Amino acid sequence: MLTVMDLRKSFVEYFKAKGHKIVPSSSLLPKDDPTLLFTTAGMVQFKPMFAGTVELEYTRAASVQKCLRTSDLENVGKTKRHLTFFEMLGNFSFGDYFKKEAIEFAWDFSTSVMGINSEKIWVSIYEDDDEAFEIWKNDIGVPEHKIVRLGKADNFWGPAGDSGACGPCSELYIDRGPEFGCGSDDCKPGCECERFMEYWNLVFNQFNQDINGNLNPLPRTGIDTGMGLERLATLLQGVDSVYETDEFKTLTEFIASESGIKYEGDAVVPMRVMAEHARSLTFAMTDGIYPSNEGRGYVLRRILRRALRYSRQLGIKEPFIHRIVDPVVSIMGEFYPELAQSARNIKSVIESEEKRFLDTIENGMSRLDSILSGIEPGSGSRLSGRDAFVLYDTFGFPYEMTAEIAAERGVPVDRKGFEAEMESQRERGRQSWKAGDEGLERFFDEAVKQCGDTVFTGYTDESSKSEISAIYTEDGASDIIEPGQRAFLVLDRTPFYGESGGQVGDIGLIAADGARFRVLDTKKNHRTVIHLGELESGKLKKGQQVTAEIDPVNRNLIRANHTATHLLQAALRKVLGEHVKQAGSIVDSEKMRFDFSHFSAMTDEEIYRVEELVNRKIWENREVGTEIMPLEKAVESGAMAVFDEKYEDTVRVVSVEGFSKELCGGTHVSNTGKIGVFSILREMSPGAGVRRIEAATLRGVLERYKERERFSEEICSALNISERDALKRIAEIQERLRGLEKEIKKLKGNDAASAADSLIASAKSIGPVKFVSKALSGADGNALKSLADAVREKLPDSVVCLGSEYDGKAILVYAATSSAIKAGFDCGKAMKQTAALVGGGGGGRPDMAQAGGKNPDGIPGALQAAEDFVKNAVS
Ligand code: SER
Repeated sequence: MLTVMDLRKSFVEYFKAKGHKIVPSSSLLPKDDPTLLFTTAGMVQFKPMFAGTVELEYTRAASVQKCLRTSDLENVGKTKRHLTFFEMLGNFSFGDYFKKEAIEFAWDFSTSVMGINSEKIWVSIYEDDDEAFEIWKNDIGVPEHKIVRLGKADNFWGPAGDSGACGPCSELYIDRGPEFGCGSDDCKPGCECERFMEYWNLVFNQFNQDINGNLNPLPRTGIDTGMGLERLATLLQGVDSVYETDEFKTLTEFIASESGIKYEGDAVVPMRVMAEHARSLTFAMTDGIYPSNEGRGYVLRRILRRALRYSRQLGIKEPFIHRIVDPVVSIMGEFYPELAQSARNIKSVIESEEKRFLDTIENGMSRLDSILSGIEPGSGSRLSGRDAFVLYDTFGFPYEMTAEIAAERGVPVDRKGFEAEMESQRERGRQSWKAGDEGLERFFDEAVKQCGDTVFTGYTDESSKSEISAIYTEDGASDIIEPGQRAFLVLDRTPFYGESGGQVGDIGLIAADGARFRVLDTKKNHRTVIHLGELESGKLKKGQQVTAEIDPVNRNLIRANHTATHLLQAALRKVLGEHVKQAGSIVDSEKMRFDFSHFSAMTDEEIYRVEELVNRKIWENREVGTEIMPLEKAVESGAMAVFDEKYEDTVRVVSVEGFSKELCGGTHVSNTGKIGVFSILREMSPGAGVRRIEAATLRGVLERYKERERFSEEICSALNISERDALKRIAEIQERLRGLEKEIKKLKGNDAASAADSLIASAKSIGPVKFVSKALSGADGNALKSLADAVREKLPDSVVCLGSEYDGKAILVYAATSSAIKAGFDCGKAMKQTAALVGGGGGGRPDMAQAGGKNPDGIPGALQAAEDFVKNAVS
């Protein structure tokens, strides 16, 4: 049996022997194409070669390409052949061979390498492609009735994304036999049934489709073929579904044995979903696409949550999907060595994402269940957009997941309503940053068209003689600019670095004959450099000769921070491991912010070691070199690339002798010694699986030092101590405070006890009871109550009546022992009769009562009345 790995290898060997350059799979993140969410076909990385916008280093290529297609996500696992992640075997020609050779290669590889019985092969061609027909019939010898002409929907391919190469195509099919068919006499390729299975698509690229859908002839015709590896393996291994091919079987077996659930019956679909999605997640995350709330990241989150929903359906209550990463890596890691490097990080990101969703999925599911049980399938009622939105927003249910579950119960969802809810949420978010819009930005694209590329001289020079190519003010293009006007200038050449690759734009001056244009920021749009700023004096005209000069100190500080981020990345990889990859960075003159893939917070020890290592490399005064070389060579030499960066074919490689090597267009110091000193300010997490370090060099470090110094001065002056013996003095102050606290406690206790004693001494006997009363001031209700209590405890048969003026108001508290109550006294009743005398009301229980009033002057009268009450009550 040909295994999936055999197929990859034999495909590569075959086309290598036919003079093709074997090109590694490009990232799932398409690097040159914002119109594509993911790499969806082998040809994606070759789009510029078909378009003729790059110079060709070879004219035939072959690849095994990682692909991700998610438009049919809700079918994946339920059908025999839908996948999100798959591999595409493809051979390509850029102005080299065309239809005849492409057809011959496909036929030869099918019959002699894969051993497919030629009798079983059928082909389809584009309806009016007589040339292809002749080749199949005459050169290959396929009988005429096995060459089927199909229309545009089937046999015209492309482009991938909104624009690019496309053309008629021809497809190869295997006839699996009438037992798979529909029985119709006319059954042939193109029929909906299962008999003829397409396995190889040969695209004859002739056109370039522009963004408006117009077809123009391609500068050079080409070939783009694609054969789905998993589908091919299904056919060759004689199984019925992609999930029964060797690699997938290993995964479903793993899931079955780890979960203790048999791969049969109701468990089949969930296990297929889990296996399939675990592959997609592993590959996408290896290429730097992480689950998030937007764009590609959100698609990934949907895949992950869908996998989790199915694992829950199997009855697995714990995070499980992350455990499938290891078998994926061990099966496919030989061909894709990049998988192993990131596996640990990926597992931990998936696991934390699983935990997060498991927290809400139970509640979300029961909510969804109860909504669905209230909707009669087929009644025309739908699940409302509002409900779908709440499930999304509160329980983390991707819309498509809600829709899929609802569809399983025969209930449609109001998608428009959901989108309207989403839009109003977005609108709420947008309002806050609208104000930041710059009036000048809207002319950037026009400036690019007008001026083309700017020559950048700033790697070596700090000033240049230049000519003004264009001036744009807030009103648009202008020939002249007056003092005080905000504008941007485009020059033919410039030393100003336009913000890119995380490095901020330069500041400086553009000057000529008394005119001074202060550059406050520099941007780069495509390859046009845009100098934003204000004319301080004089006049500048389009076409005028000027001197453009960056602020050299500012640039030196930026250089130091930029080279330091390279040292930081290398140090992080040494200390934390090779899975560390840059996920974003910002470098300015004050500090750097560096985001990288890593699964847990760094320990103090790790932070210390990284900082140490970076400083060592700085103090070793290592040379920093830059070199321009072909991308391929750079990557081969081990230069680090950032996954979502767009690189040209020739790239700039920045290396710190023996320590770091990165693709980078930024500006750097020539020797690490110029970085001076490096300090990590903060380590934190901006999102799952990503850590962020903020650090500084040179002025940034000095400023932080100054800030700390000011802070400690403020502390010392507030405590009135000198910095020299601050710690000793603070310890003394704390000691004294502790002493004082003790003292206060003691005094308070003494106070209450002695107050109670003196009250007891003043007790009057009234019949069988002892009566104590006193008007105090400044004691609140609680203090009065504790005092009354203390007296009652110590003095048998007592009635205690206390009053206090507190905060301009009166408080009365009465307390009585049980024997006094037996003798006839009732605090609650006494209070009812006397509270009015302090301008208030209140009552309470027989043993304790409290009241407040507006009139503190009434306190002595109230206490007298209470005494009278006692006399009456106990006589
Ligand atoms: N681009 C074509 C496809 O995706 C052939 O590679 O099918």
